[in-house]
Amino acid sequence: MGSASRVAGIDAMAFHGTHCYLEMADLATARGVDPDKYIHGLGQRQMAVATPCEDTVTMATVAAHRALDRFDIDPGEIGTLIVGTETGVDHSKPVAVYVHDMLGLAPNCRTFETKHACYGAMAGLTSAMDWISAGRARGRKALIIASDIARYGLNTPGEPTQGAGAVAMVVSERPRLLELDPTSFGDYTRQVMDFWRPLYSKYAFADGHYSIDCYLDAFSGAWRDACENSGTWEPLRLDNIDACFYHVPFTKMARKAHHRHCETEWGISVAKENEAKMTEINASYERQVAPWLELNSIVGNIYTGSLFLCLMDYLRKAHPAGGQRLSMFSYGSGCGAAFGTGVVVANAARYADHIDPATHLAQRRRLDIDRYEQLITASETADHNEAPYPDPADWDLGQGLYYVGTRDHIRQYTGSAADTP
Ligand code: HMG
Repeated sequence: MGSASRVAGIDAMAFHGTHCYLEMADLATARGVDPDKYIHGLGQRQMAVATPCEDTVTMATVAAHRALDRFDIDPGEIGTLIVGTETGVDHSKPVAVYVHDMLGLAPNCRTFETKHACYGAMAGLTSAMDWISAGRARGRKALIIASDIARYGLNTPGEPTQGAGAVAMVVSERPRLLELDPTSFGDYTRQVMDFWRPLYSKYAFADGHYSIDCYLDAFSGAWRDACENSGTWEPLRLDNIDACFYHVPFTKMARKAHHRHCETEWGISVAKENEAKMTEINASYERQVAPWLELNSIVGNIYTGSLFLCLMDYLRKAHPAGGQRLSMFSYGSGCGAAFGTGVVVANAARYADHIDPATHLAQRRRLDIDRYEQLITASETADHNEAPYPDPADWDLGQGLYYVGTRDHIRQYTGSAADTP
């Protein structure tokens, strides 16, 4: 595969989400919207909601602990830790250094945070691939974590596209899940105001419909660069790809992205009236995209981790024999994007149960609208330097790793990742 000196790929994966969720039908009813708009129009069934005691640090740490534990990786093997997030907890101090401490990683582990909206974790993943390929790892592994809380605020158009959660991935020279193909990656960057969150705001601002256009243009740009980078577009042809994963702010976006994927590869634009081509696109969507959107449809937009939820869904359900090529498109508003592929490792199917978050998701508690709105309002002041401090008992959280307020301007945590269900 290509001319890179060393193979690098995903060796372990795990997800940690929130303890509460909202049914999209309940949100629609409360907002006076036809539930079909959220469920079929956007393609979302449920939405994860973080309590004030669950933040980017706690979700990232628990997801990473789960990945190391289930795949039997010693924390001492980690030589690089990157947390991709756009919901950092400090203007200066990275989420990654809290995670480094909570996981007990080695002092010589290079540790930092990346931010470029939803593209932050893909930036981390490709940096890890480059770190290993360049021979800097000295046999060690990289831990890449995507952790975010997506919030647009109550009664906004973005409200049904919120969510929260973290995906942790270990990258190594001997991956057990997916070998990344560095020759197949392409990039795209353009300054656009489609979605942003100013320093003074807890909520994102979005020019929603424009953001969809920016996303689709970024797809075409990154895909063309990938073809140029690989020197041949043969391995990147849809016919040679088993499953296509996209950044998923809501699952309907993956359908739009796949439509653009087909159009870009074919070099034509396909209108609804072109029945033959639409049938082809729909069939390809049902085969290569739709089956792997189940986790996204019940978790919502988790920003940096959304793309990787599709990969987890595939690895837990597809039982691939090995050798399948998978494509990944990451989009971060603002905007930055990457398209690339990887090849499933033989025996990856053996780890389906290690990856599957079904048990964890089944334990979530359903919120009613009043409780959801209380929770969002309480989160607005949860990181202020004075009481009332967030208390896990107020949100019926039980045992686990939680944020419990900021005292003397220092964030406080209680519990441990190992105890978090
Ligand atoms: P909206 O204006 O409320 O919704 O905003 P709409 O009118 O566009 O309707 C949505 C879909 O529902 C449409 O389907 C309607 O036809 C359909 P489409 O035509 O697109 O296929 N619909 C119905 N279907 C069935 N029954 C009904 C019904 N009514 C309507 N009764 C929007 C939607 C996504 C713009 C809004 O929620 C928003 O602003 N979200 C936030 C921005 C966003 O998610 N952008 C996505 C691209 S940018 C991105 O992905 C990056 C991001 O993750 C951030 C980052 O990078 O950090 C956001």
